[in-house]
Amino acid sequence: MSDETLSNLLHEDRRFEPPADLAAHANVTAEAYARADADREAFWAEQAERLDWDQKWDRVLDWDDPPFAKWFVGGRINASYNCVDRHVAAGKGDKVALHWVGEPEDDARDITYAELKDQVSQAANALTDLGVQTGDRVAIYLPMIPEVVVAMLACARIGAPHTVVFGGFSSEALASRVADCEAKVIITSDGGYRRGAASALKPAVDEAVEKAAAQGQRVEKVLVVRRTGQDVDWDDSRDVWWHDAVEKASTEHECEFFDSEHPLYVMYTSGTTGKPKGILHTTGGYLVGTSYTHWAVFDLKADTDVYWCTADVGWVTGHSYMVYGPLSNNVTQVMYEGTPDSPHKGRWWEIVEKYGVTIFYTAPTAIRTFMKWGSDIPAKFDLSTIRVLGSVGEPINPEAYIWYRETIGASRVPVVDTWWQTETGQIMISPLPGVTAGKPGSAMTALPGVSADVVNDDGESVPNGSGGFLVLTKPWPAMLRTLWGDDERFKDTYWSRFAEEGFYFAGDGAKKDEDGDLWLLGRVDDVMNVSGHRLSTTEIESALVSHPKVAEAAVVGAADETTGQAVCAFVILRESALEGGEAAPDELIQELRQHVQKEIGAIAKPRQIMIVPELPKTRSGKIMRRLLKDVAENRDVGDVTTLADSTVMDLIKDKQTAGASED
Ligand code: WTA
Repeated sequence: MSDETLSNLLHEDRRFEPPADLAAHANVTAEAYARADADREAFWAEQAERLDWDQKWDRVLDWDDPPFAKWFVGGRINASYNCVDRHVAAGKGDKVALHWVGEPEDDARDITYAELKDQVSQAANALTDLGVQTGDRVAIYLPMIPEVVVAMLACARIGAPHTVVFGGFSSEALASRVADCEAKVIITSDGGYRRGAASALKPAVDEAVEKAAAQGQRVEKVLVVRRTGQDVDWDDSRDVWWHDAVEKASTEHECEFFDSEHPLYVMYTSGTTGKPKGILHTTGGYLVGTSYTHWAVFDLKADTDVYWCTADVGWVTGHSYMVYGPLSNNVTQVMYEGTPDSPHKGRWWEIVEKYGVTIFYTAPTAIRTFMKWGSDIPAKFDLSTIRVLGSVGEPINPEAYIWYRETIGASRVPVVDTWWQTETGQIMISPLPGVTAGKPGSAMTALPGVSADVVNDDGESVPNGSGGFLVLTKPWPAMLRTLWGDDERFKDTYWSRFAEEGFYFAGDGAKKDEDGDLWLLGRVDDVMNVSGHRLSTTEIESALVSHPKVAEAAVVGAADETTGQAVCAFVILRESALEGGEAAPDELIQELRQHVQKEIGAIAKPRQIMIVPELPKTRSGKIMRRLLKDVAENRDVGDVTTLADSTVMDLIKDKQTAGASED
């Protein structure tokens, strides 16, 4: 990825000016940058005024004990109230909050803000009846159905931090997250629809409850939405149907206001070690950051826009730009349950046409998939309502950017390439559609009120035209506050690399072009980006090694045309597994791929597994992944002089064809 991006950088001279009418009525204009720079705290306080507070803050930012930030200190606020109640109170209750579209055709529901308020209130009452109290953690493991939004807002309403676990994750992954944050309730469903079929969720929850118990966490209640009508195993003492508990509860619920720093949610993400990190977000600053950036970056006109973010709610994009940002801004949005090709490859564009979507936010991996399927598919639908296009999750290559702009945006719609992370909570680097002349492939500049830089090894800002490490140089409202239960790891992971300068190290490489605009170059650590999802090499290596036939494993992310990076694994088998011949049987490779799927989830399943006799190691025993990456990307292998045994790479290359496997 980085070589390609760098060479594009050298030749890229296309610029796309903002459309004149958009610029003329833009929410944010160029003056915002200087104004925010002049007084950052005043700038963020102004954005905080966009929300309803039960009690205003005494202090905008407390940064007395870095890296532990407090924003809007002394303020009292409720996120759920800001996402629903206040809109109803303002007379916007009849406005549609969600145009929900199920995967089976003709399965759709519109939910107004007033209905959402009732449902959230009912769910809040039901959770309280199930024994959930302020501060308790609730795990949510649901497909893309409206109940997931209701569940999240109900948790926020009673001050019970939620941890949403992506529905594609395995029972192992769910169990470890439940155990880590000590969740006592899980909200799930019998199943959901994906790729034209009902797929079950409840069995994974049943398993996860057992596994979490083995890790010391007892799950007291499981609240189950009936979505598919599949048969489920039932434990009367623990399981409760949503339609019994929630739909029968009162729609009256007086919400309590919490301290601005009250925990809102924990979202687990992959780090460089095997154990996922629980990113903690709190209430006031997070809501200010997501609400403002959603309004600014997409030039949101809440009264007329129809917004659609295609992310799954199991990722941070679904939290910030499907739930808290858009709903706090009172927009009408689309939410879709299924896959883009179900029942046909034009499904997304059919939905855009049907609901008149005006702002569309998706990931480069999806854009590349549509490019592959062909421009004639979107051409069959009326996409003329679209006025802003967004991209997130990984660097968007200029080819995909141009295709997106031309084919989906009729060569007139601005594309905003938004850089941010689970940790940042909010968009940090992005063009503004009414201000910035966009360059294909560049996320351009830090937003007003955000400070980013590219620095060298010594933490010094690099000059224009050079590359280095991306850092955030000042605190921002939606920043993570810590890692759940692990302040030390929080400091080590993000704040130790440039401790002297006090910079947050994002883990990404970046380059400043001649104009000082930013180009993201991918991760510099052992984190992969597969279809915009973060996976750690170590996590997948541990999963492989947990298989009885595997002695050792090394995983790398290799460039992939569609998914950005793909998981490639190199595996050394145990002696016992080798009995019966040297050749790597396809069956075993399939078994190992399934094993990873079972341990982590389908997204972590290696595209390719190569059975090798040795791994390339330095004299100190560190695996040289760089060399394995060369093999996985079919390149000539680079410098091998630091290997303990330089013949190892020849052995691996010999095995390459024998052990390759792909779906
Ligand atoms: C990558 C997703 C380039 C980056 C919101 C980051 C990007 C990681 C972009 C965070 C972008 C995200 N351009 N790279 N526009 N957006 N990334 O936590 O490597 O799932 O560190 O958050 O994705 O992934 P996460």
